[in-house]
Amino acid sequence: MSSPSTAVDLAAFLGDARRRVDEALDRYLPDDPPADAECPSRLLLAMRYSLLGGGKRLRPILALMAAESVGGDPDRALPAACALEMVHTYSLIHDDLPAMDDDDLRRGRPTCHRAFDEATAILAGDALQALAFEVIARDIRPGEAAARCCLELAEACGPNGMVGGQMADLAAEGRSDATVEALEAIHRRKTGALLRASLRMGAIAAGADDDALLALDRYGRGVGLAFQIIDDLLDVQGDEAKLGKRVGKDSGLGKWTYPGLLGIEGSRRRARQVAEDAVAALEPLGDRGTRLRALALDLLERDR
Ligand code: IPE
Ligand code: IPE
Ligand code: MG
Ligand code: MG
Ligand code: MG
Repeated sequence: MSSPSTAVDLAAFLGDARRRVDEALDRYLPDDPPADAECPSRLLLAMRYSLLGGGKRLRPILALMAAESVGGDPDRALPAACALEMVHTYSLIHDDLPAMDDDDLRRGRPTCHRAFDEATAILAGDALQALAFEVIARDIRPGEAAARCCLELAEACGPNGMVGGQMADLAAEGRSDATVEALEAIHRRKTGALLRASLRMGAIAAGADDDALLALDRYGRGVGLAFQIIDDLLDVQGDEAKLGKRVGKDSGLGKWTYPGLLGIEGSRRRARQVAEDAVAALEPLGDRGTRLRALALDLLERDR
């Protein structure tokens, strides 16, 4: 358990980090673009609707915390933090499409394709993905760190990462041969890869050494898996109003989930176990890992 002062400190840090990320995202995608910009206004509206319409900002926060935990300046990781949120938001827009999970509620509002239309939602996701790489290439310095961050992000969201995991998630729907190993492989890719990359990119942008990077990588793996196990649990036990998305969808779609395989209690135990492994991986960081430790345990109790 984290002490009350750690909890207060974490809540204050999270609130401040969210504000900084939201301001930076608004600067990267302004509603009054320069006169020579050629982005169609409807596309810009849809991108801003999804990107700036709420969300916990967990991936950016992990990037900023990773930068801080290696003794770096979190501001150096801010472009990476924004890029991660752009890619995450694109993945949510596409995840909600009728061809995928067919959802009508996201972040407490109609999903992008409901608020606009399917073609606009597809293109808004595509454009957010490209913008993410533009932001890193332009604003992460030195250039070598920018190149490394581009590679990390591409690997995490590409065929061996998020997109591959989403494909496997859809391919598994309705199949009766689920195993915990196969489900874990889906979750590690569809959700875990980007969370792990958040830590790695924050650390790389801040100039971390290899030992610190390895510790954060291990932490990211654990937190990434724990996060999706809790997401599965919230689909069964969560409150739609708090979550801002529909509940009870996974079983209806025949998704493979942790509660489906291990039950509620078994899933909670597994989430705690991998979160505790994540915390243990931070040992080499000493006191600098305090906030990340508190966050991993806090995420186990989340209700949104
Ligand atoms: C939801 O992610 C989709 C998953 C990968 C589980 P989040 O729970 O981080 O969603 P937001 O960003 O807070 O809306
Ligand atoms: C989504 O997983 C993962 C990605 C968007 C890559 P889910 O389909 O479980 O996410 P929710 O529950 O719709 O937020
Ligand atoms: Mg999905
Ligand atoms: Mg979904
Ligand atoms: Mg889910």
